[in-house]
Formats: sequence, structure tokens, C-alpha cells
Amino acid sequence: MQYQSPFANWYTYSTVHKPLPDFTCETGLVLFPPELVPGVGHPLVDKLGNHAARRLTMRKLESYNAFTEKLEYKAVMAASIKIAQNPLAFGLSEHAGREARLIVTDESHHAYVAIELIKQLPGFSELPPLSPSQPPFLRGLEELETSLPTEFADDLLIAFVSISETLITSILRGIPRDPRVVSAVRNTVRDHCIDEPRHHSYFVYVVHQHWASSAPDRREILGPLYAKLIRLFLDPDIDLCRAWLLEAGLDRNEAEVVLRDYYSPERLAASVRADAFPTLKLMERVGVLDHATARSAFVEQKLID
Ligand SMILES: [Fe+2]
Ligand SMILES: [Fe+2]
Repeated sequence: MQYQSPFANWYTYSTVHKPLPDFTCETGLVLFPPELVPGVGHPLVDKLGNHAARRLTMRKLESYNAFTEKLEYKAVMAASIKIAQNPLAFGLSEHAGREARLIVTDESHHAYVAIELIKQLPGFSELPPLSPSQPPFLRGLEELETSLPTEFADDLLIAFVSISETLITSILRGIPRDPRVVSAVRNTVRDHCIDEPRHHSYFVYVVHQHWASSAPDRREILGPLYAKLIRLFLDPDIDLCRAWLLEAGLDRNEAEVVLRDYYSPERLAASVRADAFPTLKLMERVGVLDHATARSAFVEQKLID
């Protein structure tokens, strides 16, 4: 696949060249769409009063921004630096390698804005820290790394970031236009949305080239890995949600009821497939799904039938 730079107007449109978003927090509006916060609207949480829903929503926003920072620093920037330093290792052009540095800059800015938002919104600095846990994607990447041949570590990181950068999550799509949500959050997500379509195009090219340049033995590992990485990126952090529900005032049994209702297997499977749709189409176009071992891994991960 020929590299077509998505960064032609980078100096004009990238949000790193703009002022920080307006962090206005209107009273009466919510910090996050209620249907995206596990437990909000559930009768067991409703009976605890408004305070519980507010706390759950704060935790959701806090974790969304902490996740963004970690994803940018530990995964997307790290992968983009590797690409910048050795594009040929993944079948990429020298021009694409040079422009990976622009992604490093964009993502560093996204991490900065994500943390500034949390620091500047009222009430967040008083939130007690929850038991420190690293996001499941970091744990999962570590586990996968130890199960793979050592020389595969860079391919693993590039594959994970290719997945995360080509998945358009329902969160990024809906929030900027959601009139129920405070301006601070809508503006921050909107700015992030301005940069991400360029990264999406870039990583479509990366997936094509990484797969096309891989010998049969590397495809045997890379193909099934894509399926596991899609689940790793999209599966919810149930332990963290449980901690929020307990903190909000539910007992252990009630928390399990809420989690079972919110993350029922049918609902989870449907939302993972919906969120994974653009990346699954990409896997089909590139030919990953024509590879027998890869295809059965996608079935096993319940991403296709
Ligand atoms: Fe980003
Ligand atoms: Fe990105």
C-alpha cells in the first residue's frame, strides 16, 4: 500500500497548535453521559440518592482521562517512536517513519489535556485515591509479551496500537454533540476527535504494511494476536467498576447485581462487536481474516461468527 500522508495540514489543524479547550462546567449538566457510567440509573444506585450517581460519574471521568494518559504515554507514543526510528522493520516507508513523530507530538498533547481537565475541574482534587491498579491493557500486554518470542516485543506493541488507533469508540463519537454533558468534557473530547481521524488513516496503512511485510511464521503469531488485542482494548475493567460501586455505598452483593445487569454477556458482546466494527472491516480488507489460524482466533474471541 502506498503511503499517503494524512498530515498535509498538520500545522493548521492539529490541536497542539490551539489554546487549551474551554473547561467551563455548567451547573445542572452531567460530567459524562449517564448510560456510559456503570450503575447510574440502576434502582440499587438510585436508592442511595444523587450523591452516589455523582460520585460514580466523577470516577468514570477520572478513569477515562487516566486511561487516555496511560494509553498515549505507554502505548501510542512508544509505538510511534519505534516506527520513527525503524520504519522498515514494519514494512513502512521512510516518509511514514518521519511523520510518526507528529503522532508522538499529538499524543503527548492529548495526555497533557486529559490530566489538565481533571486537575482543573472542581471537586476532583478532593477525591480520595482508589487502590492503585494499572489498566488491564498494560497487564495484558505484559502477559502477552512473556508468552511470545522475545523478538516479537516490538510487533506486539505496534499491533496493539494499530488496534487502539483504528477503533473508533462510542465515547469519542457521541460526547462532543451531547447537550447533557458539561462544556469542559465535550470540548476536550472534541479536540481529541479532531486529531484522531489522521491517526486512524495512518494506522490503517501500518496494519496493511505490517501484515503484507510479514513472513508466514510472523503471520501465524500476528493474526491471532490482533483478535486478542481487540478484546484486550475493549473489555471493561470490571474490578475498577466494582470498587466504584462499593465506594458509592453498595454492599458486595448489590455491586455484583449491578455489574451483572450492566455487563450482561449479551450486552457486552454486542457493544464489543459494534465498537470493533471498523477494525474488523480493516482486518477483512487486509486479508487477516483469510488466514486460517487468525480467523479461528477471531471466532474464539467472539468477534465474528
Ligand atoms: Fe490521542
Ligand atoms: Fe491517536
